[in-house]
Amino acid sequence: MTSTSRDIPVITIDGPSASGKGTVAERVAVALGFHFLDSGALYRLTALSAMKHRVALDDEARVAELAAKLPASFHDGAVWLTDEDVTEAIRAETVGEGASKVAALPAVRTALLDRQRAYRQAPGLVADGRDMGTVVFADAVAKVFLTASAEARAERRYKQLIGKGNSANLPALVADMQARDARDTARAVAPLKPAPDALFLDTTQMDIESAVQAVLAHYASSRTGNK
Ligand code: DC
Repeated sequence: MTSTSRDIPVITIDGPSASGKGTVAERVAVALGFHFLDSGALYRLTALSAMKHRVALDDEARVAELAAKLPASFHDGAVWLTDEDVTEAIRAETVGEGASKVAALPAVRTALLDRQRAYRQAPGLVADGRDMGTVVFADAVAKVFLTASAEARAERRYKQLIGKGNSANLPALVADMQARDARDTARAVAPLKPAPDALFLDTTQMDIESAVQAVLAHYASSRTGNK
């Protein structure tokens, strides 16, 4: 990383799946006019790419090779793999499961590092994921760990799925959520855990707007050194 890019402010928002961090991160980015990185999308794209190429999700070398050469782009409000719009496809539960598996492979994480850091562009970046504050942008000016109970997160996912006309089973979603949390937390490399200097935000009882305001206030106080 150049000394110039180190001067570009980064706000990291890490947390478990369906904690609302993606929505909060995107709104904070819009409020500040910053760039936005949804790092989970890169892991989802890697899993989808492996599935399309019929590469086993535990074949570390081959999945890492796909991750390094991922023909992914984000434009026109959509996510693309080569010239295919995969915006919806990467949100499927099976792809989320696959992403959690490939994300546990150290070579895959390494293959995606530079790509994530390249999003650090002026005037600033809001990055959401699991290890944004602990690994990828360890020097971020403001770090947040955003979470909610597994039940609250499963309920949010349930409402999203039903809202899109899909069928959903709440107890199964709670179980999936707990299994994914366990895998993301227990893995050896870059496990899901709050950075020691992160603001811990439990949104179980909080709406999105309050969470956005809390992150903006944390960033403002971090900049003035008034933590
Ligand atoms: O945030 P998400 O649900 O889109 O992430 C999908 C999976 O990718 C999740 O199970 C964990 C993994 N992930 C990761 O390991 N590190 C990141 N920075 C982002 C996501």
